[in-house]
Amino acid sequence: MSENDKPVIDEYSGVETTGHDWDGIQELNNPLPRWWLWSFYVCILWAVVYWVFMPSWPLVQDYTRGFLGYSQRAVVAEELKSLTEARADLGKQLLASEPEKIVQDKGLLEFAYAAGKTAFADNCAGCHGSGAGGAKGYPNLNDDDWLWGGSLNAIETSIRFGIGATHEETHFSEMPAFGVDEMLSKDEISTLVTYLQILSGQQANGTENLEPAKTLFADNCASCHGDDAAGDREQGAPNLRDAIWLFGKDKKAIFETVHAGRKGMMPAWDGRLDPVTIRALAVYIHTRGGGE
Ligand code: HEC
Ligand code: HEC
Repeated sequence: MSENDKPVIDEYSGVETTGHDWDGIQELNNPLPRWWLWSFYVCILWAVVYWVFMPSWPLVQDYTRGFLGYSQRAVVAEELKSLTEARADLGKQLLASEPEKIVQDKGLLEFAYAAGKTAFADNCAGCHGSGAGGAKGYPNLNDDDWLWGGSLNAIETSIRFGIGATHEETHFSEMPAFGVDEMLSKDEISTLVTYLQILSGQQANGTENLEPAKTLFADNCASCHGDDAAGDREQGAPNLRDAIWLFGKDKKAIFETVHAGRKGMMPAWDGRLDPVTIRALAVYIHTRGGGE
């Protein structure tokens, strides 16, 4: 207020001033806009209604709960409960369904794929790679080249019982060490390596006489890899005609395989993972591309 407490009227706008004066700049005392004032009242009203119905005021030990008794914790608990129920239900369906049925049922497939993906990241990616693409000695699970079979059942069996594992039903396989155990000479192994490179299309057959290699193969290798070298899933013996190599495709790697042998091992997951998770994993791998 000015010194004599009389309202001061601004001479340009004709509006009363508040009497505040900053270096000659004065503040007009205009009323608040209507819309603003009404929004303000509505907010106050809203706050009061909120206090009454919703949890709001902290007390010493507790808080005011409001007439609606709303609680996010209760909502989450409720949602979790129905999710768990739905999962248990889907899990039961997953175990009870024939493989073809699972693939046809979109809901079931989505459930299994999601559960399988998580379980894969947690348990399998360390060996098979995060995208299941494999690494040397650890098979790629996305392609359609299978050591032990690519049907849903075959994949599930591999996962459940493992390979060279301690489970009594485990798959067992071993590529003998032909060089180390002196079953074949270095020259014979080299002959076979060249033969395999020609068979798998890595090397053209120039003037090579393949007859000695064919005989060596028939005598030493065909019992496991098959007469045509296309592999044998009963024994986990890989196809040697294709371009996919578990332990490396160059001369040196193949020589090493035949010379010193190989013995891939995978733990059995039966007992470590529950049956629903194992089925989900099988579905996940089966749907990623290589399923048969
Ligand atoms: C300790 C490493 C390791 C872990 C962990 C592992 N695997 Fe394997 N897995 C292997 C190896 C090695 C082989 C190949 C064995 C062989 O040479 O016959 C294999 C083979 C497989 C096969 C058979 C592939 C075929 O071509 O027939 C499947 C299916 C498979 N694994 C799935 C899984 C799943 C699912 C998990 C996770 C629950 C998993 N593996 C975890 C090492 C592992
Ligand atoms: C007793 C069965 C058996 C016999 C006999 C056998 N193999 Fe194997 N071979 C296997 C198995 C099983 C594997 C896969 C090993 C693994 O996955 O750990 C394998 C793997 C291989 C591989 C690696 C393939 C890849 O994808 O990297 C080559 C190469 C190979 N064998 C060549 C031969 C040759 C050549 C002979 C004959 C001199 C032979 N094998 C005899 C069982 C056999």
